[in-house]
Amino acid sequence: MKIAKSLQQIQPSYIREILAAAQTQGVISLAGGLPDGESFPLDLMEDSLNTLAASPQLFQYGHTAGYAPLLDYFKQTEQQPGHHSAIVCTGSQQALDLIARAFLNPNDIVVMEAPSYLGALQVFGLAQANVQSIQQRADGPDLAQLEAKFATGEVVMFYAVPDFHNPTGVCWSLEVRQKVAQLCIQYNVTLIEDVPYRELRFNGQALPLTSSFCPDNSLVLRSFSKIATPGIRLGLLTGKTDWINPLIKVKQSSDLHSSVPMQAVLLDLLKHPNFDKHLAKLRDLYQKRYLALTEQLSQKLPAGCQFNTVDGGMFIWLTVPDCNTYQLAQAAIDNNVAVVPSAVFYQQGETVEPALRLNFTNASESELATAVDRLVTAINESCKPI
Ligand SMILES: Cc1ncc(COP(=O)(O)O)c(C=O)c1O
Repeated sequence: MKIAKSLQQIQPSYIREILAAAQTQGVISLAGGLPDGESFPLDLMEDSLNTLAASPQLFQYGHTAGYAPLLDYFKQTEQQPGHHSAIVCTGSQQALDLIARAFLNPNDIVVMEAPSYLGALQVFGLAQANVQSIQQRADGPDLAQLEAKFATGEVVMFYAVPDFHNPTGVCWSLEVRQKVAQLCIQYNVTLIEDVPYRELRFNGQALPLTSSFCPDNSLVLRSFSKIATPGIRLGLLTGKTDWINPLIKVKQSSDLHSSVPMQAVLLDLLKHPNFDKHLAKLRDLYQKRYLALTEQLSQKLPAGCQFNTVDGGMFIWLTVPDCNTYQLAQAAIDNNVAVVPSAVFYQQGETVEPALRLNFTNASESELATAVDRLVTAINESCKPI
C-alpha cells in the first residue's frame, strides 16, 4: 500500500532522533518539552484513582463532547458567553487536528509565527494547508507582516501560542493581543489560540487571553498536560457553539470520546482544595530552575551567544553565533547534553535563526549547571568564533 501524498510530504522528525539520544544513560536532556515528573500531583489524584473501580459507569462509552460534570465545571469556572461551548479533547494536540480536519481544505492559508510549534506544523502539513510564516518579535508577531497577510483576504486561520511560546518562550504584550484581535475581526480571520503554558507564569501579572478581545473570531485550546500530567491526555477546546458542533462530529469519527475515567480524575483534581498550592509549587520550582539555567548561561556562554528572558513556560531560546545548529546539537549529544536545533521549528526554505531551544523544567539545578558546562564545550568546538 502506498503512503498517502499528504503524509509523504511530512519530513522525518529529527526531534524524535534527538529525544531518543537524550534517553541514553548519562545524557542530560534540555531537549524535550517534558514537565517535571516528580511534581505530578499524584498525591492529589490518589483518592480518585483508588475509587475508580467502584464507579463502573465511568468505564462505559461516554459522550463525544466530554464527561458532563467536567464540562459543567468548565462552564462555571470559565465564564464563556452563552453561545459558546466546549469539547474535551485527547490533549490539545487532538484539538489542533480536529480543527484542521473540520475547517481546512487543501491549500487554505494558515498563518503562523516563525519559528513555530512543530506539532502544529505537522497537523497543518497533513491537512495540506498553505502555511505562511511571519516573524516573531520580542513582544509577539510582527504586526505589519500579519496585517499584510490578512489584507490579502485569503487567510483562513492565524495559529498562535501567545503565552510562553514553544519554542521561543515569547509572551505577547497586552497591546499586541489587542491589535491581533482587532485585525482578526477586521479581516475575518479565525484566531487559533493555543495556551498550554499559560498557567506556568512565574513572574508578572497574567495577561488576558487574546481571544477575550475577539471571542467570536477565536477557538481556544487548553491543555492539562503541563499542570496535571501529559499521560492523562486531556485538553479543552472552546469557541462558538456553531464551530464546536462540527468539531464534535470529527471527534466522533476520530476516537468517539476521550477517556471518561481520566476526565473524572481530572475533575476531582481541579476541584481539590490543594490544587492551587500544587500550581504555586510548580511555578516556584520552574522559576528556580529557569534562574539556575540562565545564571549559568550568563556566566559561561562565549561572546555572541544570547538568550531571551522569560516570565514563565518551559523554554528559552539561545541564539548562537553563525553556526550550523544541527552540527552543534550533535556536538552537544557527543558531550552528553541534548538540545534542539532551531531549524526543526521552521518550514523548509525559511530563513532560520541559528539558535537552540533549551528546556528548563525537566532537569535539576545541579544537572542544569553541568548541562551548561557541556553545552559551552560543544559551542566552542562547533561554532565559528565571531
Ligand atoms: C504549543 C503546544 N501546543 C500543543 C501541545 C500539545 O499538548 P497536549 O499534551 O495537550 O496534547 C504542545 C505540547 O508540548 C505545545 O507545546
